[in-house]
Amino acid sequence: MAKEIVLTGITTSGTPHLGNYVGAIRPAIEASRQDNTDAYFFMADYHALIKCQDPARVQQSRQEIAATWLACGLDTDKATFYRQSDIPEIAELNWLLTCVTSKGLMNRAHAYKGAVDANLADSQDPDFGITMGLFCYPVLMAADILAFNANKVPVGRDQIQHIEMARDIAGRFNHLFGQHFTLPEAVVGEEGSILKGLDGRKMSKSYNNTIPLFDTEKKLQKGINKIKTNLLEPGEAKDPNDSTVFDIYKAFATPEQTAEMRQKFADGIAWGQAKKELFELINGQLAEPREKYLELMANPAQVEEILQAGAEKARARVRGFISDLRNAVGLVNFK
Ligand code: TRP
Repeated sequence: MAKEIVLTGITTSGTPHLGNYVGAIRPAIEASRQDNTDAYFFMADYHALIKCQDPARVQQSRQEIAATWLACGLDTDKATFYRQSDIPEIAELNWLLTCVTSKGLMNRAHAYKGAVDANLADSQDPDFGITMGLFCYPVLMAADILAFNANKVPVGRDQIQHIEMARDIAGRFNHLFGQHFTLPEAVVGEEGSILKGLDGRKMSKSYNNTIPLFDTEKKLQKGINKIKTNLLEPGEAKDPNDSTVFDIYKAFATPEQTAEMRQKFADGIAWGQAKKELFELINGQLAEPREKYLELMANPAQVEEILQAGAEKARARVRGFISDLRNAVGLVNFK
């Protein structure tokens, strides 16, 4: 049986936090180890330019994200790991797809509509601050996916619409030019894959409630100490089903450790002690990759070499296909 192609991208506009690790990085690395999948992971640095016009930030984030994936154990012999901007074929496909994508479809994208609504609420011009990059975001994402004819695309819930749009765009292209694209499917992690942040809402950069993944041990401890709890005293039973501390503990623990912690909650563990045990659990798992991360951050040339090799592998995979697509639309050499 042909291997299933799994592909996902990470926008390089921030510093990885515990929520990224639990929700995206850890499951993707696990999936890539399976023999029946062919995994493609990339840094969506063209997408980052839409949100971030600070070159230093973009560059820093690319480096941090690359080092994070490698430090967390991504096997780059097995998976293909690359930067989107190193694959000119993606930009080329982006244009072929742009030309078959109806504007009406893009008008319906949540991110774009959200930006328009925010402008209207502010009594601004509806187009205020909206670039063509933002408007066409879903087309570029479709190019990322369709260039590799990915079957499965692991994403957060907020990205499902984009995968549906990629299917629409692929279908339109196939209808016009013949059966070239496989229709991709979104794979959304189960409930447990969304980590809560300091304030109990989803851990996210936009809520400013994150705990960084590879900051110093001290900062990790500090972050954990900032997790919001209630006012129950030591000795008073606590509800694990209504606790961010427990929730995060569970994301890192074995089922046995989780059961033990559940019992400690019932027995009235002090919040300070629960946080201490949470820190020890997480730090135990992150200490080794943290070392590796720091080593990689200090050796950008080593990361660069890995990414160059990844780009070469990715390009070798798509080159012929994109050339077929060029021919399909009529860009054929004269003979
Ligand atoms: N838009 C995705 C996000 O913000 C990142 C992304 C870009 C992506 N291209 C992709 C994800 C292709 C999956 C497939 O999370």
